[in-house]
Amino acid sequence: MFVAKPPLGWNSWNTFGEKINEEVVMQSADLLVSSGLADCGYEYIVIDDCWSLRQRDENGRLVPDPEKFPHGMKYVADYVHSKGLKFGMYSCAGMNTCAGYPGSFDHEFQDAASFAEWGVDYLKYDYCFHPITVPGKILYKRMAVALANCGRDIVFSACSWGADETKKWINETGANLWRTTGDIFDSWKSIKQLSLRAPDSIGYGGINCFPDMDMLVVGMYGEGNVGLANCTDEEYRTHFSLWALLGSPLMIGCDIRKMNDATREILMNKEVLAINQDPAYHQAYMACSYVDRKDTDDEHPIYVRLLDNGDYAIGFFNFSDEPGNRWNSYLLMDQIGLPESTGKTLLARDLWSGDEVKVEDGIFAPAVAAHGCRLFRCKVVDR
Ligand code: GLA
Repeated sequence: MFVAKPPLGWNSWNTFGEKINEEVVMQSADLLVSSGLADCGYEYIVIDDCWSLRQRDENGRLVPDPEKFPHGMKYVADYVHSKGLKFGMYSCAGMNTCAGYPGSFDHEFQDAASFAEWGVDYLKYDYCFHPITVPGKILYKRMAVALANCGRDIVFSACSWGADETKKWINETGANLWRTTGDIFDSWKSIKQLSLRAPDSIGYGGINCFPDMDMLVVGMYGEGNVGLANCTDEEYRTHFSLWALLGSPLMIGCDIRKMNDATREILMNKEVLAINQDPAYHQAYMACSYVDRKDTDDEHPIYVRLLDNGDYAIGFFNFSDEPGNRWNSYLLMDQIGLPESTGKTLLARDLWSGDEVKVEDGIFAPAVAAHGCRLFRCKVVDR
């Protein structure tokens, strides 16, 4: 199937892990709509691992755990659809899922048929316990062709954590997105680690095969399945800005029934979301990245992305513990195709504060707080 923009939605794993059930999923669907998140474009409700029984039935079919999903999956899917949303589920390319439930290896067509029958619109497909005799790219091809022939449009979300150089073969499998790294946790350390890996995937993604930087931890505040430490709102803004700017799918991972105002403001910033969903989907590039000292990973990367209407999205990030300054984070207009000879410069709108600033003297060097970011949408104007 063809997917034009990075999918937006909610996934159960980060907060609920194994403690997933019908009530949580249906309430989250309600909240996605009533909170206004659906109006911002979030449309998928995805159930991650741990939804099935530990054994297939006598016909080899996957069985939803009747304690967690007493009315079966079609019932949940119908409910999610009745809210105007789309329904996602999870399986695995191996014999077992990562949490030890049955995986789809050698059951690909049968499971794709179940998913179609239940009304699934999105399948996240993990990589645990896969047979070492079958290469990863074949495993993903097996499920891709099963989904493409199941009679229903199902977005195929590959989750092989960037292993075995996924980026080099994922496009040919038919997957619509691919996980670029191992799992995210709700801590600044984890956000920073994954962020510093982002450049590895540049040049591989594109429309219909999006680099998935993993689900969002915005608004978790240390609670839930992958909750580790308490991030600040500033750190969550940095995380969200980078994921959005780099064109990652944005899957909310917090408990949306308990969002506070700061979380709402981050997840529902329509101007930031518009950058993520920009129809041209030109690739963001790293214009430069200053490292404070040779022996640290305290980077100050600057990412730039040309947008469909001719504007630029530009993000300045500070992964160090010290405030940034003009000397460790600056962008020359030359570097983005606007040398002095063009007579042009940028009028930059800060997407978090709303402030506007005109870039003077060919140098753009905003101050960036420790662990912070400055994300701008910039118009090309006369000098
Ligand atoms: C892997 C994936 C996670 C999550 C868990 C579920 O670790 O990378 O995103 O789906 O499995 O067990």
